[in-house]
Amino acid sequence: MKTSKKKFFITTPIYYVNDVPHIGHAYTTIAADVIARYKRLEGYEVSFLTGTDEHGQKVLQAARDLKIEPQEHVDKLHKRFKELWTRFNISNDDFIRTTEKRHKELVTHILKQLYDRKEIYKDSYEGWYCTPDERFWTEKDLVGGNCPECGREVDKIKEHNYFFKMSSYQNWLKEYIKLNDKFIQPTSRRNEVLGFLEKPLGDLCISRPKERLPWGIPLPFDENYVTYVWFDALINYISAHGSIEKNKTPEFWPANHQLIGKDILTTHAVYWSTMLKAIGLDPPLNLFAHGWWTINGKKMSKSIGNVVEPNLLIDQFGVDAIRYFLLREVPFGLDGDFSHKSLINRINSDLANNLGNLLNRTMSMIERYHDQMVPAPTLPTEDFGLIDEFKKGIEDVHRLYDDLSYNKILERIWLLVDTTNKYIDTNSPWNLVKTENGKLRLCTVMYNTVECIRSISILIYPFMPKSADTIMKQLGIEQTIEELGLESLKNWGGIKPGTKIQPGLQLFPRIEDKEAEKILSNVEPIGEKNKEQYQPPAIEGICDQVLIDDFMKIDLRTGKIIEAEKIKKSKKLLKLKVDIGNEVRQVVAGIAESYEPDHLLNRTIILVANLKPVKLMGIESQGMLLAANNNGQIVLAGFDLEPSKGIRVR
Ligand code: MSP
Repeated sequence: MKTSKKKFFITTPIYYVNDVPHIGHAYTTIAADVIARYKRLEGYEVSFLTGTDEHGQKVLQAARDLKIEPQEHVDKLHKRFKELWTRFNISNDDFIRTTEKRHKELVTHILKQLYDRKEIYKDSYEGWYCTPDERFWTEKDLVGGNCPECGREVDKIKEHNYFFKMSSYQNWLKEYIKLNDKFIQPTSRRNEVLGFLEKPLGDLCISRPKERLPWGIPLPFDENYVTYVWFDALINYISAHGSIEKNKTPEFWPANHQLIGKDILTTHAVYWSTMLKAIGLDPPLNLFAHGWWTINGKKMSKSIGNVVEPNLLIDQFGVDAIRYFLLREVPFGLDGDFSHKSLINRINSDLANNLGNLLNRTMSMIERYHDQMVPAPTLPTEDFGLIDEFKKGIEDVHRLYDDLSYNKILERIWLLVDTTNKYIDTNSPWNLVKTENGKLRLCTVMYNTVECIRSISILIYPFMPKSADTIMKQLGIEQTIEELGLESLKNWGGIKPGTKIQPGLQLFPRIEDKEAEKILSNVEPIGEKNKEQYQPPAIEGICDQVLIDDFMKIDLRTGKIIEAEKIKKSKKLLKLKVDIGNEVRQVVAGIAESYEPDHLLNRTIILVANLKPVKLMGIESQGMLLAANNNGQIVLAGFDLEPSKGIRVR
């Protein structure tokens, strides 16, 4: 008989396609990935959904600035998220974009149904509109006359719009939240929503006049309007799994967990839940609003220029160390502060000293004492205490997953790492090997140690999939963790005696003090101010093809460096004056670690001459030098013969 697997659905918010992906986005996505991977190991059929939010004013404006169609713009931009998720080893089953047909069709279908059922009505509306946030506010919402969310100026607008009768679901929602204590987590956020629902709930304006904002999904019952971005975006959670024709619940619905940041709690807990109720679907089983990351105590913001660029972090520390750090450092519901210093501390203490050291010493003892073969334990074993501790640890971890207590899960797994390290120390294999009786005991001790590491690596797999797989390979286990599943944690003795281990490179090398100092003195996060200078590494090979016309839009010129000096407080940047024939450009270039200023004088370079000027460390840069980054060594592009200044390069 065919048995169907139990389904499990987890989602992240869909990210604004215009944003440069940063660690805040990575945080939610990694958190969702951990759950998805764990549930797959448990035997569930998992659907893990993420994607991009592609309509709205900001996208339209950005496309207009670039003089391209918004569709072309989002087709390019959404890849930055896709590529980052590939780099972070994210195992999403689907990636939804709100400009896809499947999504637009369902939004249109739902709007039509709700309109026919008189859940949507037209009314005139007067309110304060925040253009950047695309939201209306009432007079009493404003803070100091400005938008309560972003603090920017608002405009008074009077217009006709369409409204969803959200207010009619207020009492139902209040009751629902009170009856289902796991619906909104953590508890502090649940109370926040209940507090919000104490005040009268208005109806939700779900349209925008096309003349003001043409980039959106048209209302099926009035061609002069498009759908409000939030009403459009929230539906992604069900449009990914097809239509809701004939009142059929979409596959995988209700979602088991919807992970969101605390800033988008109201839109999910109130707008989304009432929309679902009106559509005739249940709310998700759990909405978890996590905290926000600050950077060295400050809010991460494009205007401050302190946004932490995840590609750079991956280049520097590796994927698994970052995945581990983000979920270990701070409880999921609370805000946390990101600093390179605490990241390095975690890598050194938890990964290199604890887990890494456990693996290394075990491998070298098996090499030395047992000729690279996992020995057979001598029975009966007298180590039931150890086996029980692991059993208890595995049960605790399982329980902690229910409440998304990532940091506690990791803490609990690391207690098992400590237990194993202590087990080795107490039994001192280096002494056992000295006597014949000791050698018998040594076989049991080494067998159990390997078995402990096998269990630990299955437990860390959802957090650090690559490292876990590497550990299993080093232990000589051929099956993958995905094939083995959590089943293989149930009984002690999963590894066969006689298995040949495959020692490899050190998994988590320590970041020595000198190197740490160098990293810390070079921390220059990428923000709006200097992101143009940062090229995320191409990970899917060569970039997309472009037409010659597109290439010709880049004005490359020959130029001669006539002045070069260091910039105070920056290890990477030099301030240059470049003569390009009819003018002299000031250029801030990130080449200080590879070139001494004096050696640059009179050198002919290639300048990107029509790049929009940006300020770096407060100094305007009016162009960019062409160079290759050869594993951190910057090599400037040049010529074998000396051309004149200001000549176009093609
Ligand atoms: N497009 C909407 C979501 C629509 S879902 C139907 C959106 N996008 S967003 O790109 O601005 O934000 C996506 C998520 O990133 C939010 O959950 C937000 O909380 C999270 N973060 C943005 N900055 C963050 C930090 N500094 N720290 C942690 N998470 C943060 O909102």
